[in-house]
Amino acid sequence: MPVTEDDALRAEVAALAPWFHNIDLNGIPTAPDHFLGDYPRDKFAGFAQVLPADLTGKSVLDIGCNAGFYSVEMKRRGAERVVGIDSDDRYLAQARLATRALGFDGIEFRKLDVYQVAELGERFDLVIFMGVLYHLRHPLLALDLIREHVAGDLMLFQTMQQGSDTIAEVAENHPFFMPGTYDKPRYFDDPGYPKMHFIEHRYADDWTNWWAPNRACSAAMLRAAGFAILDNPEPEVFLCRTAPVPYAQFGPAAVYPAKGAAA
Ligand SMILES: C[S@@+](CC[C@H](N)C(=O)[O-])C[C@H]1O[C@@H](n2cnc3c(N)ncnc32)[C@H](O)[C@@H]1O
Repeated sequence: MPVTEDDALRAEVAALAPWFHNIDLNGIPTAPDHFLGDYPRDKFAGFAQVLPADLTGKSVLDIGCNAGFYSVEMKRRGAERVVGIDSDDRYLAQARLATRALGFDGIEFRKLDVYQVAELGERFDLVIFMGVLYHLRHPLLALDLIREHVAGDLMLFQTMQQGSDTIAEVAENHPFFMPGTYDKPRYFDDPGYPKMHFIEHRYADDWTNWWAPNRACSAAMLRAAGFAILDNPEPEVFLCRTAPVPYAQFGPAAVYPAKGAAA
């Protein structure tokens, strides 16, 4: 029996399963039974409007690109240069297959860990950093490295969050004790105080989920890494722009990876 091009593509899609991104490869969906529905297309529909509709001439870095859904969408918006990085070979193979099948051969996919973004050696007009932070053991380090090495202007950020969506007014400085006492201050117990929940074992059966910030914590970490928040179209989605890094005048705050031999 002759094998059609569609049959061959279906076989390639199946060989790389399971897919986290459902991408419509001209009638062949990569994850038609996704537990979140038509994911991430349905999710993107909720905040796509915060991004520039026209990215002509712009460069985009998609960190944790997975099968390339967002990389493709940015190319559809006219981005001149799109680079997708991921630490997982199978996801990168999915991304290459999907973009080839859709005819987007101008997207570059590279195996690179977020902690290695300095190796890219360039800044991008738009960084997409979605769905990765909570998988990292060192989330603030990742934000610091992105800010220092690759963020050129905008960043679209998303993270899984837990706890309250309220955002408490936080004072610029905190007293050690409740005034006039030796009692612990109460502000840390406010559900809207920035909090990061540490997941020692597994979350949703996935041992790579290490952290779950609340909404206030996501916002505070972004600001602390030198990103001003322009929009927050959904509690867990933030559009940011590079801004001065707080306390940068005192030198690097993070414990950065070693750059060379000690003097
Ligand atoms: C939940 S998926 C999110 C995919 C996509 N960004 C999205 O929002 O739909 C997390 C992705 O991040 C990648 N990833 C996890 N840790 C990473 C790391 N340290 N560096 C680069 N990519 C990472 C995973 O391989 C996976 O493709």
